[in-house]
Amino acid sequence: MYKLWIFLHLFGVVVWVGGMFFVLHCLRPALADLQPALRPPLMVGVLQRFFRYVIASIVLIWVSGAGLAARLGAHTMQSGVLTMIILALIMTAVFGWIRMSQFPRVRLALAVSDLPGAAALLDKLRRLVLLNMVLGLLAIAAVTLWR
Ligand code: HEM
Repeated sequence: MYKLWIFLHLFGVVVWVGGMFFVLHCLRPALADLQPALRPPLMVGVLQRFFRYVIASIVLIWVSGAGLAARLGAHTMQSGVLTMIILALIMTAVFGWIRMSQFPRVRLALAVSDLPGAAALLDKLRRLVLLNMVLGLLAIAAVTLWR
C-alpha cells in the first residue's frame, strides 16, 4: 500500500507543481506572440481547465499524504516531512484564494470586455502562482534534500 500512496502522492505533485511550471515558463511567454486582445481569453480558458486538475491533485495529495503519514506514525514529525505539510497547507490556502477570489475577478473583467483590467488581474494572479510553485519546490526539497 505504501508504494501506491507514494505513486498517487507524486502524481498529484507532478500535475500541480509541473503544471504551474509549464504555465509560467512555457505558455505565458509564448502568449507574447499573440495580439494583446487574445491573451486574457486564452489564459482564462487554460486556467479554467488547469484549476480543475489542481483541485483533483490537492485532494489526491492530502489523501495520499494522510495515508503515508499514518504509516510513518511519529516519524511524520521529522523536520523535513513536517515542513512539507506546513508548506502544503500554505499552498492549499493560496490556491483557495486564487480560485475563489482572484480568478472570478479576472472572469468578471473579461465578461465586461475590460481587457486591460483582466490583464492586470492576470499579472497579479501570475505572482500568486509563482509563489505556489516556489513553495512546492521547497516542499520537495524539504522531504528529499533536508532529512
Ligand atoms: C504540494 C505539497 C506536497 C509536496 C510537493 C510533497 C512532496 C513529497 C515528495 C516528493 C515525497 C517523496 C519523498 C521520498 O520518497 O523521499 C513525499 C512524501 C511524503 N509526503 Fe508529501 N508532499 C506534499 C504534501 C503533503 C501533505 C499535505 C502530506 C500530509 C497530509 C504529505 C505527507 C507525506 C508523507 C508522510 C510522505 C512520506 C515521507 C517518507 O516516507 O519518509 N505530503 N511528499
